[in-house]
Amino acid sequence: MNFTLNDGNNIPAVGFGVFMIPNDGPTYTATLEALKAGYRHIDTAAAYMNESDVGKAVRDSGLKREEVFITSKLWLQDYGYDNAVKGIDTSLRNLGTEYIDMYLLHQPYGDVAGAWKALEDAKAQGKIKSIGVSNMTPKIWNEFVPKFKTLPAVNQVECNPFFQQKKLRAVLDPLNVRLEAWYPLGHGNNDLLTSPAITAPAQKYGKNAGQVILRFEVQEGFIVLPKSTNPERIKGNLNIFDFSLTDDEMNAIRALDTGKGSHDPEATGVGETLLKNYKIHD
Ligand code: A2P
Repeated sequence: MNFTLNDGNNIPAVGFGVFMIPNDGPTYTATLEALKAGYRHIDTAAAYMNESDVGKAVRDSGLKREEVFITSKLWLQDYGYDNAVKGIDTSLRNLGTEYIDMYLLHQPYGDVAGAWKALEDAKAQGKIKSIGVSNMTPKIWNEFVPKFKTLPAVNQVECNPFFQQKKLRAVLDPLNVRLEAWYPLGHGNNDLLTSPAITAPAQKYGKNAGQVILRFEVQEGFIVLPKSTNPERIKGNLNIFDFSLTDDEMNAIRALDTGKGSHDPEATGVGETLLKNYKIHD
């Protein structure tokens, strides 16, 4: 299943995330497995340091390049216009591909405006098809995006039934900007997975808790990026299109929202800490 973005491009609703999977083998194997299982959307980032394995797996999969949607992200070290131009070219080289389907500003700190301008120019040159942002709260969005020439196609943020991003959606929805959910399963939070609002429909439809959560999110219009290292669950997390939740079931899950997540992009010093902890080059 695909969603159409505000720039007219299509994006598969479920993507396979490769955060924290090592390069030089494990990411290659996991991506190849995911493509075999039917995933057509892979979500990587320069900072994950595994773009080359993703690119190699896509090339070796037997699929045509245009059959797979690849997302990558610019890291904070490469913000500012000139650095971003180089960062985009490095991602293209590491992925070994002529174009990237979606490229995001990974974090909203530093010279965001300059970095965004480089993404706009790369899009105009055909190096990137769609451009977006990540980890922008309503406050951060309002600080930067009204000054952008191009509206982001997506904002990739933490989102799950315990943290439904209602305030952010009130900003994004009127602009037709899609929300992409990272940690869509609450990062395996057991309270979430065992909540009756989730387990009751799971039992009714013969699905597991994760599948019900992902189905809820896709029905809400979110692009989801579930992570799993378990081959059965990797396959199962894509198998969410043969049932749908009723209005009552949707409302019961909507009621689980606590309004809080694990990551606060507005906390003091987040940008500096990230930059210190993730160095992708000298
Ligand atoms: P595992 O790798 O053993 O499948 P998130 O995507 O929100 O970060 O959540 C990832 C966590 O959720 C992992 O611990 C993963 O464990 C677990 N998980 C993935 N798919 C499912 C599922 N369908 N049901 C329950 N837990 C899942």
